[in-house]
Amino acid sequence: MPHAPMTPAEYWDKYKPYNGEGTQPPPQAHRFDWTQYPGHGPGAEVLGHPLRALELGPAEGKEAAHLARHGVEVTGVDFSSTQVERARAWWKDTPGLSFVHDEACAYLTSASTTPYDAIYSVWGAVWFTDPEDLFPCVLKRLAPGSVFAFSQAEPVVGSYGPQQMRGKWLEGRERELTVLRWQYAPETWVGILERHGFTDIDARVLKAPEPGNLGTLLVRAHSPSTSSDAE
Ligand SMILES: C[S@@+](CC[C@H](N)C(=O)[O-])C[C@H]1O[C@@H](n2cnc3c(N)ncnc32)[C@H](O)[C@@H]1O
Repeated sequence: MPHAPMTPAEYWDKYKPYNGEGTQPPPQAHRFDWTQYPGHGPGAEVLGHPLRALELGPAEGKEAAHLARHGVEVTGVDFSSTQVERARAWWKDTPGLSFVHDEACAYLTSASTTPYDAIYSVWGAVWFTDPEDLFPCVLKRLAPGSVFAFSQAEPVVGSYGPQQMRGKWLEGRERELTVLRWQYAPETWVGILERHGFTDIDARVLKAPEPGNLGTLLVRAHSPSTSSDAE
C-alpha cells in the first residue's frame, strides 16, 4: 500500500530517535551551545540578559532548559508533536519553561503575549523557514532593542538560497517530500535582516575546533531601540 505523503513536521518527528531500553534520559543542559561541538564558541551571553525568551524549533530543548535554569522565562515552539512531547516530558520540572506545538510563523503571528526580550534558534526553525516570511513575524514579537540570534551549519560556498536537504530521516521517501533549508553567506544575512528592519547586526562563521570540519554560522541582530531607528 502506498504511504501517505510525509509532511515536514512528520519528518522532524523522526529526528534523534531513541533506540535504547527504558525511558530515554534527557540530554545535559548545563551549557548553551550554538555550535555542534559541545563547549565550543560563545554561549548564552549572545542573548544578553533576557527576562523572556522564545526558541524557534528547539526539538530536544536543552538550550531552553539551560536558560530557564538561569531564571529566564522560556517558551519553545516546535511543529513536531513528537519533539514537543519529548521535551515536555524531559523538562516538566523546570520552572519557567514551556513548549508549544505550533509552526513558528503561525505562533509568532497569533500569540497575543507581551513581546520577548530575545528570540533565538539553534540549528532550528530559522534554518528551515523562508526568512522573507519569518523575519517580519520575529520583529513584531521583539521588545525594542532586543536580540534575535540564530545558528546553523556554515553555508557551502555558492549554494545559496533555499537548498534541498537530503535528511537521513527521509528513509528513501525523498520523492514525497522536499525539506528545504536556507543558506546564505554572512554578508547576505546582514542585508536580509537590514531590509526587514533589524539593526546592529553581526553575522560570522565560527570555525570548527578541528581544521577541515564544518563550521557554524552565527547571526545576531537587534530590533530597533526606538521607532526612529527603524526608519
Ligand atoms: C535540527 S532540529 C533542532 C535542533 C535542536 N537545537 C536540538 O539540538 O535538538 C530542527 C527543529 O526545528 C523544528 N522546525 C523546523 N521548521 C519549523 C517551523 N517552521 N516551525 C516550528 N518548528 C520547526 C523541527 O521540528 C525540529 O525539531
